Amino acid sequence: MTATAANLSHVLPLGSRVNARGRLEVGGCDLLELAREFGTPAYVVAEDDLRARARAFLDAVSARHRDYDVLFASKAFPCTAVYRLLAEEGLGCDVASGGELFLALRAGFDPARIYLHGNAKSEIELHEAVAAGVGYVVLDSASEIERLERVAAAQRTRQAVLVRVTPGVAGDTHHAISTGQADSKFGFSPHDAEAAIGRVSAAAHLDLVGLHCHIGSQLLELEPFVAAVRTIAALGDFPVYNVGGGLGVAYTDSQQPPAISEYVETLVAVVHRELRTDVRLLFEPGRALVANSTVTIYTVQSVKENVSTWVAVDGGMSDNLRPMLYGSTYEALLAGRPLAPASRRCHVAGKHCESGDVLIRDVPLADPAPGDVLAVPVTGAYGYSLANNYNGVLRAPVIFCREGTARAVVRRESYDDLAARDLE
Ligand code: LLP
Repeated sequence: MTATAANLSHVLPLGSRVNARGRLEVGGCDLLELAREFGTPAYVVAEDDLRARARAFLDAVSARHRDYDVLFASKAFPCTAVYRLLAEEGLGCDVASGGELFLALRAGFDPARIYLHGNAKSEIELHEAVAAGVGYVVLDSASEIERLERVAAAQRTRQAVLVRVTPGVAGDTHHAISTGQADSKFGFSPHDAEAAIGRVSAAAHLDLVGLHCHIGSQLLELEPFVAAVRTIAALGDFPVYNVGGGLGVAYTDSQQPPAISEYVETLVAVVHRELRTDVRLLFEPGRALVANSTVTIYTVQSVKENVSTWVAVDGGMSDNLRPMLYGSTYEALLAGRPLAPASRRCHVAGKHCESGDVLIRDVPLADPAPGDVLAVPVTGAYGYSLANNYNGVLRAPVIFCREGTARAVVRRESYDDLAARDLE
């Protein structure tokens, strides 16, 4: 296979193109110029792509269902500029910790449209959420029911809640990102959910409005979503249902995820069939909103031939842990000559002191050499959020690009940042 910008167009952000100088452009910005201006590695985000996918979700749902909300599962890309942009587009927000709640509020989300998740929320996090006036808290365990009741009573308020159900449905995805199976740390089994529903209904300061389920992530088939809705439909009749996130994206040329509209169509249809047409329906996408908006740019530091060709770049598992955690695959291309025949199979290795720090195996590249800028598409979801400082590597900046204008919305870390929390 030869990888070129042409056949990678479905993994590159919308509007990407090869410019008159024969170089790859994202959001109207030449990636080589971005590398020069902002350094590498860097997350390069096409702002229009983010907006287009947010609109695709909103349009798909609003065309089919009256009472809805689309929530940004913010763990996928929790940076202020992304929160702001998606709030501006009219999305609500899913947060899974006090930290994400802080960021979502700071970025301007209406607290009433923020939903707090988590299988191990602390009492402090519950206090913060209730005090902020979040829309719903999604209850995940029996002990949390008592804890939240205490917190809401102390604040003399009633808190609206959803009960998270683990429907016993496992989608075809990596086990580490499957959450719907019976033996999961998340939520209540359908059997335990019945008891939980009873206890929440009896709690004086909790207002049970509905059910939530999220069966896993990077799902490329729709059937498990349908099965999950069928299971939760058997648990009673509630005004609100949150069907979670999980829609997969194309990381490589060969992956064909359902379109956002197809996914929404299927879910709305099963909700109308198994529940009612007038429920409040919540969607909670993370990856499908943000993954394809972003390309990570790296600079090649060395090319080594032994049994394989090893192309080492200036980032790695500190900016993208996904290949190491889930065996995820990616494409790559040289930003300076994306149309050149990519005839050499290479392993793209990171700079970290681990043999497992390999970003991509067996990717065809066009004679890479030190100094080349390498672009790895589809890094918008769970790249920035899983980033770390292993080996004292500085976390990468986030660059927003639109119509040829680039601005850093998160700066690169500095050496001082590495020592910023040290007390001695
Ligand atoms: N709702 C809940 C309750 C979730 O736990 C998640 C993701 C989502 C929504 C959004 O799921 P998405 O639409 O992004 O699939 N770090 C892993 C993914 C972990 C997903 C965690 N929960 C990865 O990089 O693949």
